[in-house]
Amino acid sequence: MVGLRYAGKVVIITGGSSGIGKGCAEEFVRAGAKVVVCCNVEAEGNAVAAALKSVAQAQSAGDASFVFCDVRKAEDIQNLIEVTLSRYGRVDCLINNAGWHPPHKPIDEFTVEEFRDLIELNLVSVFNACKLALPHLRRTRGNIINVSSLVARIGQHQATTYAATKGAITAFTKALAVDEAAHGVRVNSVSPGNIYTPLWQEAIDAAPDPQRCRAEGEEAQVLGRMGAAEEVGRLCLFIAAEATFTTGVDHIISGGAELGYGRKKPDATGPARPSDL
Ligand SMILES: NC(=O)c1ccc[n+]([C@@H]2O[C@H](COP(=O)([O-])OP(=O)(O)OC[C@H]3O[C@@H](n4cnc5c(N)ncnc54)[C@H](O)[C@@H]3O)[C@@H](O)[C@H]2O)c1
Repeated sequence: MVGLRYAGKVVIITGGSSGIGKGCAEEFVRAGAKVVVCCNVEAEGNAVAAALKSVAQAQSAGDASFVFCDVRKAEDIQNLIEVTLSRYGRVDCLINNAGWHPPHKPIDEFTVEEFRDLIELNLVSVFNACKLALPHLRRTRGNIINVSSLVARIGQHQATTYAATKGAITAFTKALAVDEAAHGVRVNSVSPGNIYTPLWQEAIDAAPDPQRCRAEGEEAQVLGRMGAAEEVGRLCLFIAAEATFTTGVDHIISGGAELGYGRKKPDATGPARPSDL
């Protein structure tokens, strides 16, 4: 137990069964936390929780469990929090990670319904989870980490709806940080650039030239590669466990994707950088 950075703390991670959420869950369990992962795919959630539980058992600290939750439904989020409290008695950290990036297309091809649905999934869910968890986070003087995106800052080709939901998350995070400081609750966002996850693979598979799409995804960073989910997990663990004087900050983790000039002018074959989440 000694030396584990988040021992005894209880963490809820939405979308914790895959990609960045799973990377966070692994880091927090390794740090001794009791992690509740939720998602809306029962089998995947159970499998990830079982694997995490064995990690916890092997190190005799921490725990992991799964709760089914469709974050678009307020009653599912309410249940997620109630089950967490009945299992572990407290909540110290909420990571709002569940979200989706629709395929790229110009505004002309997005319907208002598609935009509204994405707002429900990527943004209203974050509002709901924060609202419902806060009474418990105030008791533990805990913290919230909302997963936004680098594209909230720098924009992205043919991704108006996605960038809008992420920009709103970053702004919401800062406003909530102002209000919750009085209760001792810190609220931060994390803005990943290109992180190689199943969502990114989905984009590669949908691209006309998947190999080129992957290569451009790697080359968009000055570090010359995409990030790994566990690297985002380590940042989130740092924010939760050590960054105790940090609130209302948007933490970019991008491999330097936003640095320097690059060829940006679109040509006849389309945008210069057809990738990025
Ligand atoms: N991968 C990247 O490059 C990147 C970059 C910036 C931001 N992000 C953001 O990071 C987050 C995670 O992305 P990822 O790449 O790990 O994706 P992913 O598809 O690998 O994982 C998404 C997770 O969210 C869950 N989820 C989806 N819809 C849900 C719903 N309705 N209810 C509950 N759970 C649901 C999925 O089951 C899965 O566990 C997203 O918010 C995404 O926008 C990703």
